[in-house]
Amino acid sequence: MIELKNITKSYARGRVKAVDDLSLKTEPGEIFGFIGPNGAGKTTTIKMITGILTPDTGSVTVGGTDMLAEPVKAKRLIGYVPDSHDVFDRLKGIEYLNFIGDVYGVPEKERRERIEKHLAMFEIADAAGELVRSYSHGMKQKLTLTGALIHKPPLWLLDEPLTGLDPKSALALKEEMRAHCREGNTVFFSTHILEVAERLCDRIGIIYKGKLAAVGTMDSLRTGEKDATLEQIFFELTE
Ligand SMILES: Nc1ncnc2c1ncn2[C@@H]1O[C@H](COP(=O)(O)OP(=O)(O)O)[C@@H](O)[C@H]1O
Ligand SMILES: [Mg+2]
Repeated sequence: MIELKNITKSYARGRVKAVDDLSLKTEPGEIFGFIGPNGAGKTTTIKMITGILTPDTGSVTVGGTDMLAEPVKAKRLIGYVPDSHDVFDRLKGIEYLNFIGDVYGVPEKERRERIEKHLAMFEIADAAGELVRSYSHGMKQKLTLTGALIHKPPLWLLDEPLTGLDPKSALALKEEMRAHCREGNTVFFSTHILEVAERLCDRIGIIYKGKLAAVGTMDSLRTGEKDATLEQIFFELTE
């Protein structure tokens, strides 16, 4: 679903190399967890997959479509939830969702079904008529998630989606991620919660200082001790 070939991205006129020659491929039907310390380059990588940032070198393909060559076609495949939730404060929740629905050209019936399903799942249906300004951080995140899924994208690209969610909503989201992949779709998400990554993901990528330090199933990541936890593997590779 996603193919990254030797992507590199620097900030501050090349003084900060955030992502350094990273290559990665995900398969349809898999949940891929992207972990790494703060500043490792997770968000920068995710933003390059969305097309928000253009790599200095290398290429990004989503569903076989090159992001640089055909950005709109590639972006249609993606449901992206950023790590910060700067949603339009002056809109009501439902207005925001309908705006996103319009952008993606989602027909009325499908739109209503998906909105209702996710608002109920995240228990924010009652707040849909309120201004986004009055939402808590977690509520904004739930609204952003609902908006990101409105066009039924095959690829979910989630930057720390579990941070800030209450336990019930986190569980609901994890179940949704699984269900999405069972239908042959792909979820690519970053997280700091190693236990979740360990249990939920089919494969895990560990990024450290902009480079992919390791990638594979939990079993294949265990090169030393045969029942090492992801936490142990993580510290071995990043210290
Ligand atoms: N807009 C920016 N300008 C300058 N440096 C940045 C910017 N965004 C990120 N960085 C730097 O790039 C590196 C990777 O950041 P980021 O991709 O946000 O990492 P992560 O999401 O893994 O915490 C860090 O050193 C960070 O300080
Ligand atoms: Mg980040």
